[in-house]
Amino acid sequence: MNLLVTGGCGFIGNHFVRHWLGRYPDDVVVNLDALTYSGNLANLADVAANARYRFVHGSICDRPLVERVCEESNIEAIVNFAAHTHVDRSILDASPFIETNVRGVQVLLDVARSRSLSRFVQVSTDEVYGALGTGDLPTTEKAPLAPNSPYAASKAAGDLLVHACHRTYGVPAIVTRCSNNFGPYQFPEKLIPLMIINALDNKPLPVYGDGLYVRDWIYVGDHCEAIDLALCRGRVGEIYHIGSSNERTNIEIVERILDHLGKPRSLIQHVKDRPGHDRRYALDAARAREELGWSPRHDFAGALTATINWYVERRSWWEAVLTGEYRRFYEAWYVKR
Ligand code: TYD
Repeated sequence: MNLLVTGGCGFIGNHFVRHWLGRYPDDVVVNLDALTYSGNLANLADVAANARYRFVHGSICDRPLVERVCEESNIEAIVNFAAHTHVDRSILDASPFIETNVRGVQVLLDVARSRSLSRFVQVSTDEVYGALGTGDLPTTEKAPLAPNSPYAASKAAGDLLVHACHRTYGVPAIVTRCSNNFGPYQFPEKLIPLMIINALDNKPLPVYGDGLYVRDWIYVGDHCEAIDLALCRGRVGEIYHIGSSNERTNIEIVERILDHLGKPRSLIQHVKDRPGHDRRYALDAARAREELGWSPRHDFAGALTATINWYVERRSWWEAVLTGEYRRFYEAWYVKR
């Protein structure tokens, strides 16, 4: 298959590109990425020379470009990772979220339709359902959408466009919704990498509010495996939840990181809460387990330890990210050529 992965230079996308190239030795992967602040070419430096991999710099909002890429590489399916994803940034300015997560999705759907692609997978999030209460059962795919942040609202809108495009035009689309991911190459604005990096530099760890907010954490590799199965085996028009039934409070995550690094808990600093902060997310992933034969393979403690160790060993990666050095790498190698 010739696959178009959008946003492949981001956190989950880069793991998926590597996963697909490794798993399917006859397939070609084209990675279309706008290289916004969180997209980093260094994330895929290890596959850059692979003859079955091609990088294209550009936005999913650029329809002529998306058409041209699909034509040139004879694309058969799209997996859309391209998105603005950080809740706090969406609170400061929602516009880029609407542009990419809503308009960009429609552009991809229009191209999928005009070229009669065989699959379109929209990678989405549990945040579209809003917050769960402490005693509530995990969310099933039948739950109503009730997003609370501009980010979550933009993803919900994109998902609805996918649904509409399937119902109206028969585009063979699938939506996957996953819980909070962690692993190597995650941009250090998200909870786990931010806390690891601050702890390593003995800086305060900013915990929002009481720190008792609950997220359902999944290792990124397990997420990629589920997207692969959804693409290959999923029923078109369906939504699949991807979650590990691994609910943890933020404070537990932060304490585990400090303990593993041998740093004092006094580094924890409770700060002003995020506005509209969702108390808890938890997904019921029974459909993915039963229909796709998927189950997560990584245990939380081991995967978190491996992730912390990765950030310890790859200081050069995150220091370049923090200083913006990775953007100069891009300018030197791609823009000037
Ligand atoms: P985040 O990684 O931003 O993911 P999301 O908000 O999409 O779930 O945050 C995870 C949780 O950690 C969330 O409850 C907010 C909290 N958090 C902090 O307490 N401090 C921080 O500095 C960050 C970035 C997040």
